[in-house]
Amino acid sequence: MTHTSPRQRVPDSCAFVIFGVTGDLTHRLVIPSLYNLAATDLLPEQFCVVGIARKGTSSDALRDSLMKGLRRFATRPVDEAVARRLLECVTAVEADAKDAPSFDFLRKRLDELEAARGTSGNRLFYLATPPIAFAPIARQLGRTGLLKEENGAWRRLVVEKPFGTDLASARALNSELLKIAGEHQIYRIDHYLGKETVQNILVLRFANGMFEPIWNRNHIDHVQITVAEKLDVEHRGSFYDSTGALRDMVPNHLFQLLSLVAMEPPARFDAHAVRTEKAEALAAIQPQSVADALNNSVRAQYLAGQIGDKAIPDYRRTKDVAPESTTETYVALKLAIDNWRWAGVPFYLRTGKALAAKRSEVAIKFKQAPLAMFSCTPVDRLSQNYLVIGIEPTEGIELQFNAKVPGPTISIDGVEMTFHYRDYFKAEPSTGYETLIYDCMIGDNILFQRADGVEAGWQAVEPFLDAWKQAGAQGLKTYRAGSEGPADANELLKRDRRSWRKIC
Ligand SMILES: NC(=O)c1ccc[n+]([C@@H]2O[C@H](COP(=O)([O-])OP(=O)(O)OC[C@H]3O[C@@H](n4cnc5c(N)ncnc54)[C@H](OP(=O)(O)O)[C@@H]3O)[C@@H](O)[C@H]2O)c1
Repeated sequence: MTHTSPRQRVPDSCAFVIFGVTGDLTHRLVIPSLYNLAATDLLPEQFCVVGIARKGTSSDALRDSLMKGLRRFATRPVDEAVARRLLECVTAVEADAKDAPSFDFLRKRLDELEAARGTSGNRLFYLATPPIAFAPIARQLGRTGLLKEENGAWRRLVVEKPFGTDLASARALNSELLKIAGEHQIYRIDHYLGKETVQNILVLRFANGMFEPIWNRNHIDHVQITVAEKLDVEHRGSFYDSTGALRDMVPNHLFQLLSLVAMEPPARFDAHAVRTEKAEALAAIQPQSVADALNNSVRAQYLAGQIGDKAIPDYRRTKDVAPESTTETYVALKLAIDNWRWAGVPFYLRTGKALAAKRSEVAIKFKQAPLAMFSCTPVDRLSQNYLVIGIEPTEGIELQFNAKVPGPTISIDGVEMTFHYRDYFKAEPSTGYETLIYDCMIGDNILFQRADGVEAGWQAVEPFLDAWKQAGAQGLKTYRAGSEGPADANELLKRDRRSWRKIC
């Protein structure tokens, strides 16, 4: 039996203002998500989309472009009537944070559109621009009073990832934003939190009585968090070479997974309690010295290889990548969490590009049975007990345990119990963004990062960034594109008498 929560209410009427409306994110994810919400009657009747571009684009041209994007990226067959109704709500407005008067004009235009559409003054500003534009746009929104909540209307600011490039820049951006808006108005997106399985970690842990008693150092041997990508850097050389695997993936996506697995039970299922516990878990990651950070990390770049029928060049030969680049395309880390629940339980994290397969999962490895009771199979040769929360390529949960092989003798083999979202709930495919966009519109920020959570994440990766900066090319490893990653990543676990699960 399915119990649905009562939260499927239609959001308040509002204006949805998108900065960077001509960009990839808007076309690929934001508009297809709004379409999915419209198709399931989860958009308000009084609604408008205001698309901001820096150089004039007409509303008609913008609608055409968004329609093309929708046809290309929609996750379900496009119902022309629904799409037309949505796109009729779109108006293009020209504004550039470098040109202050353009924001005064935006304010005036918004007032007019809101009056015409009856959106009650509620406004959501979505920063779908490169991060360099976040603070300048926010400053203009602050200066013009566009974010000021008044007369019962709400004003919200959605900020895309990446949120900073290190602790100092994340702090600086938080400080800028908090000067012009309250924390309750700021929605820092990490799209991993839009995925069903990721949200399900909370439900799995806290809506079932059977997992929590064993969710600790007494029963768990270690945790592996993997986000492996098959894609290479492709045409994103310039962005990637100044970012790297650690900054791109760890303080955000991998730490979201880690904090959901490691957090203490929140007192209530509300944004304050959940985000407080998540931030606490990140803040408990053990600080590392430079020597420890080098010892507990592996960074590597891919070399030329073949993935399917695609020939991948050396990372350093990718367009817009420096020929002597020391930017990592793969990282593996060993972290410890300093609290009573997790003392002595290593968290191994790895992520990389151009690997053998696309796979994202959290694998909880339970301790072995304490006694060699079955003489047919020594305890150390029993199959390992894993609870695997799968995110890619299949969303679901798998429990691996030992069972008796049928027959007259006691023979033991590892078996799996599997739950796949797709099979059980038969849900329509989604972009993963609609939950997040819907939550912004209803004012539920439980799935968004709070300032302290973001900063705790950067704080935890800072020792690795510092250690690698000091080490330069020294210690940088390589792996073949299409492989499972660098051999040294295996060593990281082997020295603890453990091993990674296979990616492929
Ligand atoms: N694309 C994705 O799948 C994806 C996924 C997750 C997160 N993100 C994040 O979403 C944001 C947007 O990504 P994107 O892929 O859509 O980028 P994009 O296509 O390069 O750019 C988005 C738009 O931002 C505007 N823009 C560029 N520089 C600007 C500036 N200095 N000031 C104001 N506007 C500027 C441009 O529009 P105009 O020139 O018309 O103003 C551009 O079309 C980034 O922060 C990215 O990290 C993207």
